[in-house]
Amino acid sequence: MAMVYAVKGIILHGGAGTRLRPLTHTGPKQLIPVANKPISQYVLEDLVKAQIQDVAIVLGDASPQKVKEHFRNGEKFGAKITYINQGEPKGIAHAVGLCREFTKDDSFVVYLGDNMLKGGIKDYVKKFKESNYDAMVLLCEVKNPQQFGVAMFDDEKRLVKLVEKPKEPPSNFALTGIYFFTPKIFDAIDKLKPSWRGELEITEALQHLIEAGFNVGYQFVKGWWKDTGTTEDILESNRLVLDDLIPEIRGTVEDEATVQGRVAIGENTIIKRGALIRGPTIIGKDTIIEGNTFIGPYTSIGDNVHVKQGEIENSIIMNYCIIDSTEKIIDSLIGHHTTIATDHNRPKGLRLIVGENAKIVL
Ligand code: DAU
Repeated sequence: MAMVYAVKGIILHGGAGTRLRPLTHTGPKQLIPVANKPISQYVLEDLVKAQIQDVAIVLGDASPQKVKEHFRNGEKFGAKITYINQGEPKGIAHAVGLCREFTKDDSFVVYLGDNMLKGGIKDYVKKFKESNYDAMVLLCEVKNPQQFGVAMFDDEKRLVKLVEKPKEPPSNFALTGIYFFTPKIFDAIDKLKPSWRGELEITEALQHLIEAGFNVGYQFVKGWWKDTGTTEDILESNRLVLDDLIPEIRGTVEDEATVQGRVAIGENTIIKRGALIRGPTIIGKDTIIEGNTFIGPYTSIGDNVHVKQGEIENSIIMNYCIIDSTEKIIDSLIGHHTTIATDHNRPKGLRLIVGENAKIVL
């Protein structure tokens, strides 16, 4: 019988989020909602479902207080949260290295706060607990291995090498951002020097463990896995999560409003007559969808949104937005408190007030 022991959790919530500007000017990328829930909340829920309640969240310097406001002490999510400040992003291994006091002698799971995995991590945690691995990684076959850490195997399918973002990948198996460690990883982290991108790389720390003869195991992910680094990734994650949406109408759908397919509608939300909502689509609470609208498929609309008119497809509209547009909105990621409106009283043309690093495709 395998020994049962405690496993802790670490969520990385720092990083620069450069590719998701301007959304990341006002908050960390891990709080961007997918199907109306922050990405890192899925991560915490995956840990809790795997019986990992003792969780550290490593904070960066992009509005760390927003992370604390959302997760607080973790009680609401069935967890006990410890916050650890990293500040500037000096690498995943640097962030993990800050957690020694937290993990003490326990094994732990490191879950990057911008990663999403269908089906969670329960089965993999069980495998790790039952194994005698010194560390274990989770691998996923991808089409673009150059953008990830990549695994190399020998003829006996043993893991022999891990390389970060190789120009010539030795396989198509990417390292997902979910790692299973024993405290042995800390000695390997101590040996690291900053990489070409100026970071302490967890991939290199794992490579040190392999070279020192430690037992580094692996598992392949069973469902889909997404690293939500870009807007396209976030919209794809949104589609993947909405594909499994459980329909639930809590608000009011007026007579002569049409709701087709898998749709979830939150409390106090009103879908007015004449509106057409096509699933899979989720709409939050306290939102008003007026009659002259067509929403979905693959769309997430947050809380306290007012859609006065318009068509919205394959998009994420966050809380407190006002949409009043005669143009169709597609493939868009719209931040909290944004107004998009057509003004019929002034000459036709684009009248934009946009912050730094925005991307507008017309
Ligand atoms: O997503 C999987 C990939 O994650 C792996 O295949 C790579 O081997 C691994 O290096 C990592 O690559 P990325 O280039 O995607 O890592 P990124 O810089 O985007 O950071 C990943 C997460 O960790 C993100 O949520 C931000 C957080 N982070 C990152 C750094 C560098 C921190 O909290 N602190 C940091 O210092």
